[in-house]
Amino acid sequence: MNKLGHVIRKVRKEDREEIAAVLTAAFGQKDEAELVKQLWTQNAVKFERLAEVGGAVIGYCAFSPITCKPSLDGLLLGLGPLAVAPDHQRQGVGAALVEEGLKVCRENKARLIAVLGDPDYYARFGFEPAAEKKMTWAGFDAGDAFRIIIGDPGLSDESDAEDIRVIHYHPAFDIVS
Ligand SMILES: CC(C)(COP(=O)(O)OP(=O)(O)OC[C@H]1O[C@@H](n2cnc3c(N)ncnc32)[C@H](O)[C@@H]1OP(=O)(O)O)[C@@H](O)C(=O)NCCC(=O)NCCS
Repeated sequence: MNKLGHVIRKVRKEDREEIAAVLTAAFGQKDEAELVKQLWTQNAVKFERLAEVGGAVIGYCAFSPITCKPSLDGLLLGLGPLAVAPDHQRQGVGAALVEEGLKVCRENKARLIAVLGDPDYYARFGFEPAAEKKMTWAGFDAGDAFRIIIGDPGLSDESDAEDIRVIHYHPAFDIVS
């Protein structure tokens, strides 16, 4: 348990119903829970973690593979969805999930981690505007809200590329975009 009173841990199959309930409560709709169920069905979750208090699931985050055009070698991941149950928000649970998730990504030598979300929230974890690295999301123009962390190896060998690199999330994300 950390000093905030919650535990961040790996997900087991029997947690899935509770996770879906947290996603539905946090987003106020079922789309994100449905998205994650599709990712599970298609074995498309690369890393996931949950937050728990007293045996109850209160938060969840997932990382799934993304693709780039022009392509990029290595482990490329998208963070999302991230959700904390309404009664437990603004207590650092979301931050703890993201930090633990990013640690796992780094340990597994992720080369690129992308996120679409509130720029101020994600900037604190080191996510930088994707546009600064000539990358964009394949969906709508999300501007500053589409952000990336470049892992190891960096992009120096590709930095001269003229092309904008277009990033696609797993097709299951179409339900929420
Ligand atoms: C976004 C979310 C995961 C953050 O989790 P959390 O545990 O509440 O966040 P933390 O406690 O780690 O961080 C709190 C800080 O984040 C910021 N913050 C929290 N929720 C935010 C939001 N929806 N938008 C922007 N900033 C937010 C605030 O600055 C807050 O600081 P403050 O309390 O001093 O004002 C949670 O609010 C949530 O589940 N929201 C609904 C689902 C959602 O929007 N998910 C993100 C999709 S990208």
